[in-house]
Amino acid sequence: MHADVLLGLQWGDEGKGKVVDYLAANYDMVARFQGGPNAGHTLILEGGQKYVLHTIPSGIFFPECRNLIGNGVVVDPLTLEQEIQKLEQAGLNLNHNLFIARKAHLILPTHKILDAASEEAKGSAKIGSTLKGIGPTYMDKTGRNGLRVGDLERADFRERYEQLKQKHIKLLEHFEHDYQLDSLERAWFESLERVKQLNLVDGEYFVGDALAKGQRVLAEGAQGAMLDIDFGTYPFVTSSNTVSAGVCTGLGVAPRRIGEVIGISKAYCTRVGSGPFPTELEDETGERLRKEGGEFGATTGRPRRCGWIDLPALRYAIQLSGVTQLAITKVDVLNAFEEIQVCTAYRIDGVATDRLPYDLTGVEIEPVYRSFPGWNSNLDSIDQYGELPERLRHYIDFLEGALDTPITMISLGPERDRLLRRSANSAAGSSSSTPAGESVNA
Ligand code: GDP
Ligand code: IMO
Ligand code: MG
Repeated sequence: MHADVLLGLQWGDEGKGKVVDYLAANYDMVARFQGGPNAGHTLILEGGQKYVLHTIPSGIFFPECRNLIGNGVVVDPLTLEQEIQKLEQAGLNLNHNLFIARKAHLILPTHKILDAASEEAKGSAKIGSTLKGIGPTYMDKTGRNGLRVGDLERADFRERYEQLKQKHIKLLEHFEHDYQLDSLERAWFESLERVKQLNLVDGEYFVGDALAKGQRVLAEGAQGAMLDIDFGTYPFVTSSNTVSAGVCTGLGVAPRRIGEVIGISKAYCTRVGSGPFPTELEDETGERLRKEGGEFGATTGRPRRCGWIDLPALRYAIQLSGVTQLAITKVDVLNAFEEIQVCTAYRIDGVATDRLPYDLTGVEIEPVYRSFPGWNSNLDSIDQYGELPERLRHYIDFLEGALDTPITMISLGPERDRLLRRSANSAAGSSSSTPAGESVNA
């Protein structure tokens, strides 16, 4: 059996949580493979109840679906405990379906302090980090100093913790940053007690055995391709590989065991935090997208920067991850727009290109737009692809052709059931099977 993958193709917040929650009923396992509590995945269940998940995979509402926090994830026990509490209050029993890989690294209180100190020192060049300690924790992982979830089972855990903490305190002397550690540390150790009660597993065997038994596994990405540590808009990126290669290292799945790769994009584009964003609209239209789309960060509450969909960046992301099918979300947000723009190429120094330059920062990029008439109608009562307004179908057909990848899902609202399945147009040039063998309504 192969593991399917679902990942963001933009700068995060594409609606991954919603689509994973929708698909989870067809999978035996959902596994997060990278990132940490910088992620905020919003789920709106039947009945309208809203949950924002940061560390826990988005299949958690399906008791038959096992959810794994993989080795590639960095875990803050405090956030994890808070998430667990909310879900338990909602009546979920996580003993049967939440698992955590021993090789996942722990975010220490001092990692969060270092994150804040480093951002403060950068001044106007700051990344706009969520300040959850992500960068410093991955630094300790690659620097071979990190503490892992499996270390909780060792008798000398406290000594190991003290050693790493002292190293961080030395590092903090280089910054002019005030901090209070005591209360943070106390709460951190309390929350560790809850984490110790979770099902700790050797994630690579856990996933490998499931695949060998023919079980269906969905790997859930966090962030998006343009925030990838290698291929994103460096240095304005996160500290992990958000592209599909991250699944191999973040779960221990071999490349030839990867199945469908579902890429998600909004029908427009957003970014939160600093860094280049070629199609950003710093005008009334951008303001309108933010308002209609409720574009405020699920983790930090910060307003998201908004702009038109960017095909050069999407083609790049599709290539990097080997995307086999696309889900387009938040289409309903464009319902009231008279005109919709699509960036088809960049013009740099007067020359049109659809390649991303080495560094987008400081480069004058003029987006080349193609304009589409809006469909100007409410889509609330529509539950079949064929019922969508012709102008919207034309827009979708254009995206599919321009991206040369089948668009198989269209999301029309934040709720679980507001999603239409669509069979791919032959124009897209490649055939796709649907995730986990689901049938598609066209
Ligand atoms: P994620 O990080 O990729 O899971 O996305 P977020 O949860 O951070 O942000 C997506 C936001 O859009 C959330 O508030 C979702 O409830 C909402 N959302 C998801 N899909 C749709 C959609 O099709 N239409 C609308 N209007 N909202 C959506
Ligand atoms: P989900 O999974 C959007 C952004 C931050 C910042 C940069 C680095 O919900 O799509 P970090 O905290 O990783 O040091 O921040 O990355 N960022 C996200 N933006 N969605 C996310 O996750 C993000 N996770 C990190 O805003 O610009
Ligand atoms: Mg999010």
